[in-house]
Parts: sequence; structure tokens; C-alpha cells
Amino acid sequence: MKAWRVCAWGAAPQLHELAPPARRPGRSIVRMAAATVGHIDRTVMAGQFMGPPPLPYTPGVEAAGTVVHSDRFAAGTRVWLRGGGLGTRNDGTWCELIDAPDEALGPLPEGVSMAWGSAFFSPSTSAWVALHEVGALRPGERVAVTGASGAVGSMAVQLARQAGATVVDTPEASSPVDLLVDTVGGPVLEHGIRTVAPGGRVVLVGYTAGEQVSLFLPELLQRDVRLLPLNMYRREAQGRAAAPALLEQLADGRLQLATRSFAFAQAPQALRWIAERGHRGRAVLVADTEAPRP
Ligand SMILES: NC(=O)c1ccc[n+]([C@@H]2O[C@H](COP(=O)([O-])OP(=O)(O)OC[C@H]3O[C@@H](n4cnc5c(N)ncnc54)[C@H](OP(=O)(O)O)[C@@H]3O)[C@@H](O)[C@H]2O)c1
Repeated sequence: MKAWRVCAWGAAPQLHELAPPARRPGRSIVRMAAATVGHIDRTVMAGQFMGPPPLPYTPGVEAAGTVVHSDRFAAGTRVWLRGGGLGTRNDGTWCELIDAPDEALGPLPEGVSMAWGSAFFSPSTSAWVALHEVGALRPGERVAVTGASGAVGSMAVQLARQAGATVVDTPEASSPVDLLVDTVGGPVLEHGIRTVAPGGRVVLVGYTAGEQVSLFLPELLQRDVRLLPLNMYRREAQGRAAAPALLEQLADGRLQLATRSFAFAQAPQALRWIAERGHRGRAVLVADTEAPRP
């Protein structure tokens, strides 16, 4: 079977021909239909993820496909995959046959495409946990989201509105917000803290605009703003608990998620695309068997 392999930290992935995975207790084999290429994959491939997988490894932390062998699901069941060390501690999803721990699989409703099944988990559960579990959002509160055009940001905007919050586009131009969901970090976070009302909260999700901030501590203390990090690997269980309801909302159109499909052989192009400013949506590798016939 074909699989993308990373042989050294920081090196580009290469396409290899590997033996198909053997069936093992506690593990399922899934034929990949769609596998997402995300920022977390770039972090792991750079060797910057805590407790990285042994080299060489197959990247990819999310996917969707059909079950080949599993003790939990009948052969042919449509599933999404994420967690259990997939693509972080062990080989991941950028391969034709995914060897995953049973707990990484979840059932994919018929109304949700393989592309969405592959791409939904990170943005929708991160946004949900950021708003509700970490940010403790209450109906009627004012919310701002930085990076609102991004995958997590656009989900946060949709879910905050659903929860009865008012989403403010330009908080600096209006009265302060109760909750800021910051997916961007760096100087955007430094500025964003000043748009939060005294006693409010900031949930930090990402740091594409910069890994460091300078905080004027007297102002932070006087504002009494709580700066709260989101770590979805520690909050995996909360994300998994939220996943079925989020999938239901994708299936019936209450939630929207932008994706862009790449052929399986185009993983390097997908990696470059997600690193570009202004790209819209999540990059999804589509298995050769799923690609539209000419
Ligand atoms: N903490 C966690 O557990 C967790 C979970 C999921 C994701 N994340 C992280 O969250 C971040 C966002 O993920 P995503 O999937 O939403 O990414 P995405 O779809 O690539 O969106 C990135 C967003 O950030 C904006 N942006 C990028 N660089 C910027 C800059 N220098 N200044 C201002 N805005 C900038 C982009 O705006 P433009 O369109 O204008 O470029 C876009 O709106 C990533 O860093 C990801 O690793 C963290």
C-alpha cells in the first residue's frame, strides 16, 4: 500500500510502498477515503510535538474511511478517525490502509461526506471546547474571535451565535467583549486582551502570528482578564463527547466547514497551501479510489 513517510525531523514527506498492516488485537484497519493535512501535522513533522513518534513515521492525525477489520465496527462501516496517538505518537492517516487503535474510530453519519468526516474534528471540537469548557460562555455575552476566517475561528463564530452570544467583528470599535477566542496569538493577542472587559476571559487557541507576547502586568492585573490556554490533546475526551452533536449539525446544514481537496500524491502541495496567508478551509487528501473519474 502507498503511504507518506517522514524519515527525519524537518524533512519533506516522501511517498513509499509499504506492506499492508496486519490485524492486531485492540486495533482496527480502515481504508482511507479522506485524510486531513493540518497545522498539527506541520508541528509533528518539524519534531516540535512533545513525545513525537519514532522515525520514520506516517503523518496525519485525522481521516475518514471504511472499516476493513475491527472488533468495534462491522466491515464497511463509514468512520472518522482521530486520537489514540494517530500521527502524534504512532503512524498516522496519510496512507491507503490506516492501522488505528479502536478508540480512535467514531461512526460517520450518512449525511456527512468523507471530506467533512476527516476535517471536522479539530476545528469544531476545538471551537466548542474553547467556548464552553474553557471559556464558560453564557447566553447574551459578547464574544470576539480572531482568525475568524480560519477553520477554528469560523466554527467558533457559528457556535457562539448558536449559544446565544453576540459575536463582535471589530471589538476595538465597540464596547469591550466578555470572551475573546484568539486563534492567532502574538501581537494580535497583546492587542486583543485590551478589548476584553474587566473580569472577562481570553481563550488562546493558536499562535500563527507569533509565539511570544509581551504583557504589561499592571494593566493585566487591573483589567483582571483571565488568559486561558486550550490544549485539545489534554481535552480529547471533551472533544469526543461533543463530536456526535457537531456531526449532526454538519449533516443537517446548521454548521458549515470549508475544505479543499488534494489528490493523495499532493501532500506537499497541501502542506504549502495551509501555510499560506489567506487560504480558506481545511486541506484534505482524497484517496485515489475516491477521486472523481474523468
Ligand atoms: N490549542 C489547540 O488545541 C488547537 C486546536 C486546533 C487548532 N489549533 C491551532 O489554532 C490555529 C488556527 O487553526 P485553524 O485550523 O483555524 O487555521 P487556519 O484555517 O489556517 O486559519 C488561520 C487563521 O489565522 C489568521 N492568521 C494567520 N496568520 C495571521 C497573522 N500573522 N495575523 C493575523 N491573522 C493571522 C488567518 O487569517 P488570513 O486568512 O488573513 O491569513 C486565518 O483566519 C493553528 O495555529 C492551529 O495549530 C490549536
